[in-house]
Amino acid sequence: MLEWITGKKVEIIFNEKIFTGSTKKTVLQSAIENKIPIRYNCGSGVCGQCAITLNSGEVKSNNKILLACQCYPDSNINISQKV
Ligand code: FES
Repeated sequence: MLEWITGKKVEIIFNEKIFTGSTKKTVLQSAIENKIPIRYNCGSGVCGQCAITLNSGEVKSNNKILLACQCYPDSNINISQKV
């Protein structure tokens, strides 16, 4: 009902863990809220620590390298991060 404010719920699979995100929250925000252990540092697109690989689905991002702190899921997504 308030989807235009809260965003559409999406399913995010990260390194085989499944959690719920939103199209209005960055992948990093949703991961932190769900206590998913994702690597990050600055949270502002500078350090590159949160780089992810998009295995399936769509994200909105302005960067060539996908940064979890800077991209928004646009559908259910499957992502991974190198250890
Ligand atoms: S946490 Fe630093 S670039 Fe995303």
